[in-house]
Amino acid sequence: MTTASGKKPTLPHRTRGAQLPQQTSPAGVSDLFSYANRRGVIQRILGADADFGVLLVIARFRIADLLAEGPRTVEDLAAQCGVDAAKLGRILRVAVKLKLLDHASQPDSFVLTEEGRQLCSDVPGSLLWAVLVTASQPWREAITSLPHVLQGGEPETTLYEQLDADPVLGQHFQRFMTARSYAAGQLLAQRDCSHVGTVIDIGGGHGTLLSALLRQHPHLSGVLLERPSVAIEARKHLADLGGRCEVVEGDFFTAVPAPGEGDGITVYVLGSVLHNWDDVHAIWILSTIRDAIRASGRQAQLWCVDMLIQPYLMAPTMADRLNVRMMANFPAGGQERTFGEYSDLMTAAGFQLVTREPLDGDTALMVAEALPAKS
Ligand SMILES: C[S@@+](CC[C@H](N)C(=O)[O-])C[C@H]1O[C@@H](n2cnc3c(N)ncnc32)[C@H](O)[C@@H]1O
Repeated sequence: MTTASGKKPTLPHRTRGAQLPQQTSPAGVSDLFSYANRRGVIQRILGADADFGVLLVIARFRIADLLAEGPRTVEDLAAQCGVDAAKLGRILRVAVKLKLLDHASQPDSFVLTEEGRQLCSDVPGSLLWAVLVTASQPWREAITSLPHVLQGGEPETTLYEQLDADPVLGQHFQRFMTARSYAAGQLLAQRDCSHVGTVIDIGGGHGTLLSALLRQHPHLSGVLLERPSVAIEARKHLADLGGRCEVVEGDFFTAVPAPGEGDGITVYVLGSVLHNWDDVHAIWILSTIRDAIRASGRQAQLWCVDMLIQPYLMAPTMADRLNVRMMANFPAGGQERTFGEYSDLMTAAGFQLVTREPLDGDTALMVAEALPAKS
């Protein structure tokens, strides 16, 4: 190849191997392997950024939904999504390596794997909303602001204020929460509830845990307490339970509904609520519930559903990662806790933990009872 002037193009000067360590011994090859291994840990973490880009394209264009009925060509998918077919093909070929898709028998065609099917919008516990929320500006800004958080920085608005200001993100967040709590709700509903009459779900979101319990146990009635913007949506989601379920708007720092007056004890459910708050606020929420129980003189239990940090496990768990995410999204005090730390919170708020059971993944159910007031 020559340039317009007829001369051969010169490539920029490169010093061969400039970035590599000096080969000082005959063990040079093994030095190179350990050099690559040392870098691999960080490179894998950095590479997850690009993997997330692939996940996001699939979520954003609902490609899992488009493939739900069977294989399709990349041209067909690109036309339906209104995107460039060559670029989409590059993304989908990486998605195959990430096990989200597979090649179909026809050329340039793709099919969903069972892993990829978890991104379909209608599968129970769909992970689609988790991807869209994680890609949103507040979530991305939160994670890159972690160094600032460690220096004592706090955002001007809380996450819940940001969700109220952006109704689409607010919807996606609640769908994310619904999907996240789906498996825990199904497992919770397997518990013996014959002694229970009323379930009060505090900060219940769209009511995933409450509706799982009420659907499995037709004798139960339920109340869900939420912020006004979420309560409106929760009513729609719980409408088919009719008179068995009431949604009330309120603030769990001020007051929570009193225990039910019918047969059976009342169970207060706190699902993934305490991890949004520092110890002072967590004890405040628990104390509001304890006050409602004590004032009624009725028997009640608290069922707290949260992830537990297990400090002695070597590999990072979902709870470890969520612990970092909580610090980013709720810098004022969001955190995951160990069982011992939950036990301390309960004691400080006048509860006693009576049992702990594993639910799905790192999530556990902690059952507590209110201690009588000290005279
Ligand atoms: C992480 S979400 C958990 C939702 C639901 N319990 C679940 O397990 O899917 C925490 C919930 O607390 C609600 N919340 C936050 N502050 C609140 C307050 N002051 N009073 C009542 N609910 C509140 C939020 O709207 C949100 O739905």
